[in-house]
Amino acid sequence: MSDHRSTLAAKISDRSARVGIIGLGYVGLPLALLFEESGFPVVGFDVDPAKPEALHRGESYIRHIGKERVAKAFARGRILATTDFDRLAECDAILVCVPTPLGRHREPDLSFIRVTGDEVARRLRPGQLVVLESTTYPGTTREELLPRFEAHGLACGEGFFLAFSPEREDPGNKSFHTQNIPKVVGGMDPASLELATALYGAAIATVVPVASPEVAEAAKILENVFRAVNIALANEMKVVLDKMGINVWEVIDAAKTKPFGFMPFYPGPGLGGHCIPLDPFYLTWKAAEHGAWARFIELAGEINTAMPEYVLERTARALNRHGKSLKGSRALVLGLSYKADIDDDRESPSFEIIEKLREAGAEVAYCDPYIPVARPGREHDIRLSSVPCTAAEFARHDVLVVSTAHSDFKDAALYAGARLVVDTRNLMAPLGLGTGAPGPDVVRA
Ligand SMILES: NC(=O)c1ccc[n+]([C@@H]2O[C@H](COP(=O)([O-])OP(=O)(O)OC[C@H]3O[C@@H](n4cnc5c(N)ncnc54)[C@H](O)[C@@H]3O)[C@@H](O)[C@H]2O)c1
Repeated sequence: MSDHRSTLAAKISDRSARVGIIGLGYVGLPLALLFEESGFPVVGFDVDPAKPEALHRGESYIRHIGKERVAKAFARGRILATTDFDRLAECDAILVCVPTPLGRHREPDLSFIRVTGDEVARRLRPGQLVVLESTTYPGTTREELLPRFEAHGLACGEGFFLAFSPEREDPGNKSFHTQNIPKVVGGMDPASLELATALYGAAIATVVPVASPEVAEAAKILENVFRAVNIALANEMKVVLDKMGINVWEVIDAAKTKPFGFMPFYPGPGLGGHCIPLDPFYLTWKAAEHGAWARFIELAGEINTAMPEYVLERTARALNRHGKSLKGSRALVLGLSYKADIDDDRESPSFEIIEKLREAGAEVAYCDPYIPVARPGREHDIRLSSVPCTAAEFARHDVLVVSTAHSDFKDAALYAGARLVVDTRNLMAPLGLGTGAPGPDVVRA
C-alpha cells in the first residue's frame, strides 16, 4: 500500500482527516454539517462571502436546515467556512458540490467544475482525495478533473486520489436525508475507491461502491431521467384523460393499489428544481457526441416544458366560462417554490406561468409564505413580493392558480370567498372543494 494511501486511510479511520467542502449550497451545506457531526474537522468553501459570514453568525440561509443545527456545529469549533481557497491545502479530502446548470442553448455549463478544478489543482498536495459530487454527464471526472490534477506531476491512485459520488439530496424530505440516503461511489482506481468509500462510510449509513466514476455519474443521470420520463407520462395522461372527462388523480390513486410493477408519479404545472429539468440534458448533449440520440429524454422534455402553456390555456378557458377574459383579470398564483414546503424556487414553473399570464394581459400576484420576495433568477425577474396567505386576499382575485402544494394552502377556509381555482396539484379535492360542494369553481390543469 502506498504511503499516501495508508496515511489517509488511517486519518479517515481516526476521524482526524480534514474534509473540505466546495460550494455550500443545498448539497454542500448539509454534507459539511454531517461530516462535522460525525467527528471530522471540516472547512467549507464558497465564492459567495455572505454564506461563510452567515454560518459563522450561526444562521442558516436554507430554511429546512435549521439555524440551531448550524449554530451548534459552528459553536463546537470543529468547522469553519471561508472564501479563502488557499486553505484547500489544509484539507485531506475535498468534496466538490458546485452548480452544474445548462447554458442558453441547453448545453452543459461545466464552468463551475472547471474553475473549481483549477483552484484545487493549483494547491493539490500529495495524499489528497478529491471527490466530485455535482451532477454531470458520464466522463466528466475523467475528462475534466483528472488531467488538471495530473498536470501537476502527481499520479492518480498513488500521489492523489479521485472519485465521483453523486448527491441524492431531497430537500424537505422528512424520512431521507444525507446520512441515511445510500451513497454511490465510483473511484478512478482501486485506491481512490477504497479511500472514498471509507470516508463516506464514516458518516453515511450505506455506501455503494461501483466499478468506475462513469457508472456513478451515469447512475445519477438515470435516476433523474427516470423521474423526468415518468412525470412526463403522468402529464400526458393528464391531458389525454382530461379530454375524456376522467380525473387523472383518481386514476393514479387506483393504479397505485397494485402492489408490484407500478410506481405513482404525478402531473403538475411543469418541472422545477435544480435537477430534473436540467440533468437529463447533460446526457442528451454527451450522447450526441457518440452519435446516439436519447429520444425518451427529448420527448419527456417536450411534454414537461409544454405544461405552463397548458395551465394558461385552461385558465383562459375557465375565465371565459365566468364571462371574463385573461386580459384585465386579477390572477393569484399560489406557490413560487418548485415543490411543497421548501424555499427553493430554482427553475420553478410558477415563473413561466406568471409571465405568460402577464403577457396575456392579466394583473398577476403571487402568494408563497416560503418566498416573501421573488429574487431575480437566471431567466426570470418578476419583481413581485408575496401577498398575504389569507381568505380576504384570496377573495380579491378573479382566479387562483395552484402551482405548489404548500401545507399553508391546505385549509378550506382560505377559499371561502374565492370564485375560481385552477388546480395543478390536486389540492382542492382533499379539502372537499370543487366536487359540487359550495365554494369556488375548481378546474384541474
Ligand atoms: N439541490 C438538490 O436537491 C440537488 C440534489 C442532487 C444533486 N444536486 C447537484 O449538486 C450540485 C450543487 O447543487 P446545489 O443545489 O447545492 O447548488 P446551490 O446553488 O445551492 O449551491 C452551490 C454553491 O456553490 C457556490 N459556488 C459557485 N461557484 C463556486 C466556486 N467556483 N467555488 C466555490 N463555491 C462556488 C455557490 O455560491 C453556492 O453556494 C449540482 O450539480 C446539482 O445538480 C443538487
